[in-house]
Amino acid sequence: MKGDRDRRREGHQGESMGVVEIVEPGGPDVLLLTEGARPVPGPGEVRVRVQVSGVNRADLLQRRGRYPPSPGSPENVPGLEFSGEVDQLGAGCRLRALGDRVMGIVGGGGYAEWVVASERETIRVPDGLTSEEAGAIPEVFITAWDALFLQANLRAGETVLIHAAGSGVGTAALQLARAAGAMTVGTSRSPDKVNRAVDLGLDHGVLADSGRDWTEGVRECLDGRGVDVVLDLVGASYLEGNQAILAEGGRWVVVGVPGGARGEVDLGRLMAKRASIRGTVLRARPPEEKAVLARAFERVVVPLFEAGRLRPVIDRVLPVASVREAHREMEENRSFGKLLLQWGESDG
Ligand SMILES: NC(=O)c1ccc[n+]([C@@H]2O[C@H](COP(=O)([O-])OP(=O)(O)OC[C@H]3O[C@@H](n4cnc5c(N)ncnc54)[C@H](OP(=O)(O)O)[C@@H]3O)[C@@H](O)[C@H]2O)c1
Repeated sequence: MKGDRDRRREGHQGESMGVVEIVEPGGPDVLLLTEGARPVPGPGEVRVRVQVSGVNRADLLQRRGRYPPSPGSPENVPGLEFSGEVDQLGAGCRLRALGDRVMGIVGGGGYAEWVVASERETIRVPDGLTSEEAGAIPEVFITAWDALFLQANLRAGETVLIHAAGSGVGTAALQLARAAGAMTVGTSRSPDKVNRAVDLGLDHGVLADSGRDWTEGVRECLDGRGVDVVLDLVGASYLEGNQAILAEGGRWVVVGVPGGARGEVDLGRLMAKRASIRGTVLRARPPEEKAVLARAFERVVVPLFEAGRLRPVIDRVLPVASVREAHREMEENRSFGKLLLQWGESDG
């Protein structure tokens, strides 16, 4: 099924491209590499020849029919991020030129050889990064940066607890927090991921599936103190622990809920700690908000990649024909950092 905007965007006959479609709701085997029509950029939009499409949890949910695409995005093509090269400019584009290397997020349709995006939502790729490295940045680094600094107001000298620290968002968050001078504590249910997160710069790693309350592990690392910020990538199963571990004035940002979305919050305890909880989501934001975020990210965070203070964390780059395998790996929680799909040859 195609939406009106997709039909409007379809190129001339014969201008086809590879796309990954969800044939029907279900497991990884419902993903099919097939052909679609190349999109045409509208005013203020650029068309990007995609080199790498990132894989995200939201794609898995969409595949199962549990996360409908944003309005205006293709219903049956998942994908929220890309890196590639600008190959067509819509009317009135001023920020980008043909051949520019860019990365960015889209509301859907990212598993495609070409995408169109508002030029203001694209982010320049620094010279020193390959397209694979660039493809590992947008969704997880923007999410982590926005949640830690714009939502939770994390400051130098504070302590942040990052759940699922070996995830794409977690590995981005721990580097961003460290670069800002915060102390980082992270959890994972996998001893291997705990070790790898520590190798990446996590100050303290805590195993969350050892038959022991993870809050004890966190308190041991912090000499009994609580944490100023919780970056919650797990949800309900850690709800009680998060309430207990928050310090006075603590800020708790809910970004993902694979451990469940419902639970009990003790409002009295929250009040006594003068703590706050907020939820956040990137995809559903209005285009102007996303454009402002992309411009700020380019200004503030991209230079940190150029300076070597941040690095994309790539689990595996697979040819797009192996998209089912990539979904399986993510669904089974085997990845550390990002899973990427490559269109064509590597430039790395
Ligand atoms: N709000 C937004 O805009 C936004 C944007 C991007 C991502 N997200 C969300 O943020 C989370 C992380 O995304 P990602 O792309 O970084 O994911 P990812 O790389 O696939 O990692 C997710 C990790 O979560 C942990 N996990 C999964 N199920 C769990 C459970 N039941 N209990 C405890 N831990 C569990 C696993 O880590 P261990 O095996 O180490 O425990 C898994 O590897 C996801 O929930 C995603 O949906 C939200």
